[in-house]
Amino acid sequence: MATKSLSKNDFFNQPGQMEDPRQEFQRILYSLQDFLLYQKEQGVEGLPVKSDQPAPGKVQLLEEIKKELGDCKRCKLHRYRRNIVFGSGNPEAQLVFVGEGPGGDEDIQGKPFVGRAGQLLTKIINSIDLTREEVYIANIIKCRPPQNRNPEPDEIKACEPFLIKQLDAIQPKIICALGTFAAQTLLETGERISSLRGRFISYRNTSLIATFHPAYLLRNPQRKRDVWEDMKMIRKEYFS
Ligand code: URA
Repeated sequence: MATKSLSKNDFFNQPGQMEDPRQEFQRILYSLQDFLLYQKEQGVEGLPVKSDQPAPGKVQLLEEIKKELGDCKRCKLHRYRRNIVFGSGNPEAQLVFVGEGPGGDEDIQGKPFVGRAGQLLTKIINSIDLTREEVYIANIIKCRPPQNRNPEPDEIKACEPFLIKQLDAIQPKIICALGTFAAQTLLETGERISSLRGRFISYRNTSLIATFHPAYLLRNPQRKRDVWEDMKMIRKEYFS
């Protein structure tokens, strides 16, 4: 069926005259166009969009990531683990600490950094006037490797995407990578921690700072001074 093309003048009917639905639709479009052009002239650059579905909050996003992870068997580490250590803390955190992977205590409790290194991390967090509840703590991998060996490439490949999703959900102002392994993995570099630390590095729309791992500090307390310097930088940036 041939259709007659419509002009703007077709849309102003006489009173009482039945309106063609196509005409009515195009009249509405023209009014909308006039309204938007007027708004643009007034300097309006965008209109607020109201959706029936509120944007999922960070708590919900993290829940969804946890659900997706499920009873993960994506790599061989699932055979040895007691618990998946997903991460813990404040989903709205402005500061996220990322370690290497769970050790024995973390494997038992299902929470990151709860052993000796974790106690030192708590002190480090407190030293910059924050609490564990205010920050978020996670690891590159979520299952304990046997004998606490370093995670292997296939394990990182399977697990790191979930950490990235967590970081993208939380969108912290600062990420602190704890130790060589976390720093090198996140930054995809082979650079030494001693040259990576002490400065903010741009990472996924946020700022990353690397520092020594608390477990390393337990063995090398002379490095505490360096960590304190890094923490002061974090505190300054966090509260700015
Ligand atoms: N070391 C880590 O890297 N992560 C933990 O959760 C505990 C110890």
